[in-house]
Amino acid sequence: MIELRDVTVTAPNGRTLLAGITVTLAERRIAVIGANGSGKSTLLRLLNGLVVPTSGHVVVDGLDTLRDGAAVRRRVGFVFTDPLAQLVMPTPIEDVALSLRRTLPRAARRDRAAELLASYGLGHVQHSSVYDLSGGERQLVALVSVLAVDPSVVVADEPTTLLDLRNRNRIRDQLTGLDQQLVIATHDLDLAADADRVLVVDDGRIVADGPPETTIPTYVDLVTS
Ligand SMILES: Nc1ncnc2c1ncn2[C@@H]1O[C@H](COP(=O)(O)OP(=O)(O)OP(=O)(O)O)[C@@H](O)[C@H]1O
Ligand SMILES: [Mg+2]
Repeated sequence: MIELRDVTVTAPNGRTLLAGITVTLAERRIAVIGANGSGKSTLLRLLNGLVVPTSGHVVVDGLDTLRDGAAVRRRVGFVFTDPLAQLVMPTPIEDVALSLRRTLPRAARRDRAAELLASYGLGHVQHSSVYDLSGGERQLVALVSVLAVDPSVVVADEPTTLLDLRNRNRIRDQLTGLDQQLVIATHDLDLAADADRVLVVDDGRIVADGPPETTIPTYVDLVTS
């Protein structure tokens, strides 16, 4: 469970990026939608302490991101929009093996990494350069690397934006099938419609919060009015 308690985020230039957000996130599938620059990524980054509140608190399973950042990051896996920003090793197998460093002894990591990649249909590219993978393959490898440490929450910032329809559907299926709690920012309203709960962010505030049936039309009205 994630709690945001009266969270404000102010940029170094004094601009308010998020203002007075209080929300408890307990649903299994949560989507965050809103216009470019509305504050979605900032909101997501708060959840694993990549961004900390200027005032207020973000608490994940009782851990405050300000005080217990490292412990929070072990629980909350973050999937970036651009997988190349996340994949640090030259090949998928090495990247996933690196993710396993805290949970498995060195000798067991490569075998487990190979097993995980194979289970996501990536066995044939495990030794390829990450630069040679397709965008969808890269995005999946990034997801496997995050899932390898078995986080209790997966936060994904527009994980399908760079993908074609087929790969977008693959990622969508993988995300839908996760056991973990999922918080996703997306411009893909079909993806948002899969969620149990949708937060609509506008100009640093949550302006709608509820099931997709009511919140997605609110967002559409907001951008078309
Ligand atoms: N460190 C920073 N300093 C100043 N402004 C920032 C900083 N980080 C983000 N912003 C601004 O805050 C606003 C919200 O940014 P954010 O990345 O959260 O938007 P977003 O909803 O994710 O947008 P998009 O849909 O384009 O990804 C933007 O106007 C952005 O320029
Ligand atoms: Mg963003």
